[in-house]
Amino acid sequence: MNLLVMGLQWGDEGKGKAIDYLAGNFDVVVRYQGGHNAGHTVYYGDHKVVLHLLPSGIFSPHTASVIGNGVVVNPLQLVEELLHLQSLGVDTGNFWVSHRAPLILPFHQKLDIVFEQSRYHKIGTTRRGIGPAYEDLAGRRALFVGDLLDPRRFRRKAVILNEYYNRLVQAYGAEGTQIEEYMDAYMEAGGFLGSHITDTTWMLNRRFREGQAILFEGAQGALLDIHHGTYPFVTSSNPTVGGVFTGTGLPVQSLGRITGIAKAYATRVGEGPFPSELEGPQAEWLRDRGGEFGATTGRPRRVGWLDLVALRYAVMINGVDSLFLTKLDILDGLTSIPFVEAYRVNGRETRDFDPSIEFLEEAEPIVREIPGWQGSVSEIRLFEELPMEAQHYIEMISEAVDIPVEFVSVGSGRDQTIKRELKS
Ligand code: GDP
Ligand code: IMO
Ligand code: MG
Repeated sequence: MNLLVMGLQWGDEGKGKAIDYLAGNFDVVVRYQGGHNAGHTVYYGDHKVVLHLLPSGIFSPHTASVIGNGVVVNPLQLVEELLHLQSLGVDTGNFWVSHRAPLILPFHQKLDIVFEQSRYHKIGTTRRGIGPAYEDLAGRRALFVGDLLDPRRFRRKAVILNEYYNRLVQAYGAEGTQIEEYMDAYMEAGGFLGSHITDTTWMLNRRFREGQAILFEGAQGALLDIHHGTYPFVTSSNPTVGGVFTGTGLPVQSLGRITGIAKAYATRVGEGPFPSELEGPQAEWLRDRGGEFGATTGRPRRVGWLDLVALRYAVMINGVDSLFLTKLDILDGLTSIPFVEAYRVNGRETRDFDPSIEFLEEAEPIVREIPGWQGSVSEIRLFEELPMEAQHYIEMISEAVDIPVEFVSVGSGRDQTIKRELKS
């Protein structure tokens, strides 16, 4: 059955690890939104690989890896990633990118920085040009991956946009971009990608009709969704379930189940509300222990305890069927584990999340604690062999969000995963 694997928090939940673990059971893995703002960590033998654009299924030799039309593509980054994997001996022949995926151009990256400087709310973007590229899509002036194959068309479109944005960035004292600075590199990338560029909508639909198993790989997380996240501190795409359809051209019937990924605690990179955030020595302890430094930008991630109010919301708006709980091992050795059970807003207790910043500024987390466990869980592969306290923590989460925890990750390795059989 087809499966969507998506982040339920603010990104970096461990999607790369989870998708790499699951990919072998699928014929196709497809990214449907975001761009190279994503950083999905996968271990390939002893090599730690951070994938920004390529689907995390790329290491499974029998699985096709697809970048759907909803992903914004920097072709130079894509070529770099393909070359890196080839140098590690990974077969990248079964990789496909949509000819209708919008392109990220050099001025998008400049605009990302200029817009950030001139904002009332600084977002702390990854500065990869993601937002400005999606703006051009919504503005109906985007260039697409397919344009890389037609130099005259590419130039005609790019020149107009270049001029348009040069006036803007120059007004902010930044230097403009000239098409000659990047035309050759983009055409070369187009040549390199050539036979991998295709109509992925038809390709995916044919495979779907043939009964092939498809795994949808989310980037970012539900709370970074442009419509359902903590706006304006969000990314510019839809990591939530609707993004699957707009970002692939597959019909709703193609979606079988949804597994949501959540860390056993919480992190966030960049600005924006984070009710369960920790500060001081406790935060430093958790950040160091969890290795919470951005896979894309290297920024220290903000850390906090698991927020069940926010998690319940992410489960609700996506119709998540089961959870993949990651980084349980990071909580080893704690006497007790705090978690956010509810919020107090204007003197009233609530469990109903509202992503608006006005609500979250007023929300005081109500923190409860549950006994922790001693010893390490990283070598455990059966749920029943986990310490009772760890089992209780997992069951408590499951009850709070009203869906089963199907997988528990106890380390970054592919095999460090506990799978539970679900009763149907
Ligand atoms: P993604 O963006 O959701 O794919 O997550 P990232 O790769 O940005 O960040 C997750 C980090 O946690 C990576 O360094 C993973 O290797 C690591 N990781 C994933 N699952 C586990 C786990 O269960 N335990 C530990 N200790 N590390 C994990
Ligand atoms: P993965 O797929 C965590 C955050 C940025 C910033 C906001 C907007 O690895 O989970 P953008 O560059 O997208 O305009 O930045 O979104 N952000 C992420 N945070 N994980 C990610 O991806 C992210 N991609 C974007 O830090 O706050
Ligand atoms: Mg990441």
